[in-house]
Amino acid sequence: MRISPAKRITSLPAYTFKVIDDRLLELKAKGISPVDFGVGDPSVPTPVEIRRACQKAVDDRASAGYPSYVGAPEFLEAVANWTERRFGVAIDPASQVTATIGSKEGVFNFHEAFVDPGDVVLVPSPGYPPYSRGTWFAEGKTWFYPLDEENGFLPNLDTIPEAVAQDAKIIWISYPNSPTGACPDLDFFTRVCAWAKERNIIVASDEAYSEFYFGDTPPPSVLQAAIDGVVVFNSLSKRSAMTCYRIGWAAGDAEIIGILRSMKTNIDSGAPTFIQDAGIAALADEDHVVAMRDEYRKKCDILIDALVQAGLKRCTPQGTIYVWQKVPDGMSDLAFATRLTEPDVAVVAIPGSLLAEPLEDGRNPGEGYVRFALTPQMADVEAAAARLAKLTF
Ligand SMILES: Cc1ncc(COP(=O)(O)O)c(C=O)c1O
Repeated sequence: MRISPAKRITSLPAYTFKVIDDRLLELKAKGISPVDFGVGDPSVPTPVEIRRACQKAVDDRASAGYPSYVGAPEFLEAVANWTERRFGVAIDPASQVTATIGSKEGVFNFHEAFVDPGDVVLVPSPGYPPYSRGTWFAEGKTWFYPLDEENGFLPNLDTIPEAVAQDAKIIWISYPNSPTGACPDLDFFTRVCAWAKERNIIVASDEAYSEFYFGDTPPPSVLQAAIDGVVVFNSLSKRSAMTCYRIGWAAGDAEIIGILRSMKTNIDSGAPTFIQDAGIAALADEDHVVAMRDEYRKKCDILIDALVQAGLKRCTPQGTIYVWQKVPDGMSDLAFATRLTEPDVAVVAIPGSLLAEPLEDGRNPGEGYVRFALTPQMADVEAAAARLAKLTF
């Protein structure tokens, strides 16, 4: 029998991290363990109260049956209460929230509910891959807009051709922005919502890093600007170090949430209810979030000081758990990231061009940057910083 994958699988871009992966294998073969700033997966344990809540829920729900497709009423209520406390926005848990199996599932499958073949989806470059992969699997067309430093890493709406905007169904935005660290104010969200509404485009806002900011003011949610035509995806993966639990939510326009809910009944059977219980415990507590935020701030300061000492431009993020570092003039991001994997530094960072998609004119907006995820343990960050600071660029 001849087995062949679907074209949607074979047409995906090739795996591009190979160069870095090969260097890592070489280092490991020499007995050197590099500090891995590559993956945005928190290395701290999930807070103990959340784990206990999950353990208890497994017993409490011994014969729970299938979970609700859309989320348990208590979980939806906890999300609505948190949204009101955090952003001052009242949403109806019964019609304006749905649970997701982590944001990745929600973001990817969202396109199945809204994108017809040929519909355009406006996607940031650099950006989280499921915006584009979800579009392609739904047979839509991506139109990548650049996140450039000159424009504060925001979309320049004036440069999106009107003909493209007229065919667009969705615009993805994500702030605090991974990987650039940009955190715009509410005015920005208001402008995007007005622009999109005029053109009948859904604003899909990925707010996975809403709780990680380096200034004094918590970043706003797009829901503070508008709910009509707007959907937000958020998750407990980063906020509460719960990447393994797979729990998040979508919230916003009741019509959008209704369509998303009915699409999800065809695709999955809901987030496990005991995981939602752990999510309720997580949302009820802010202390662990404050502690985690402080820890990321310290790591960020240590890393940035080292990079500046090495002669690099100071690139302090406003939010997220990433540093989007400009590489030295005349050096490619791949060459810079490869240099960091040499045994005297033994640090892994991701070349920016691998996190971005080329634009229509062929330019890759991630070129010239590398991304450091502030996820290694503090002691490893300190050790890596000491080695980085000795470099001269
Ligand atoms: C921008 C962004 N959105 C969403 C997610 C997905 O989070 P989750 O673990 O909830 O799927 C990530 C994970 O790295 C992310 O970086």
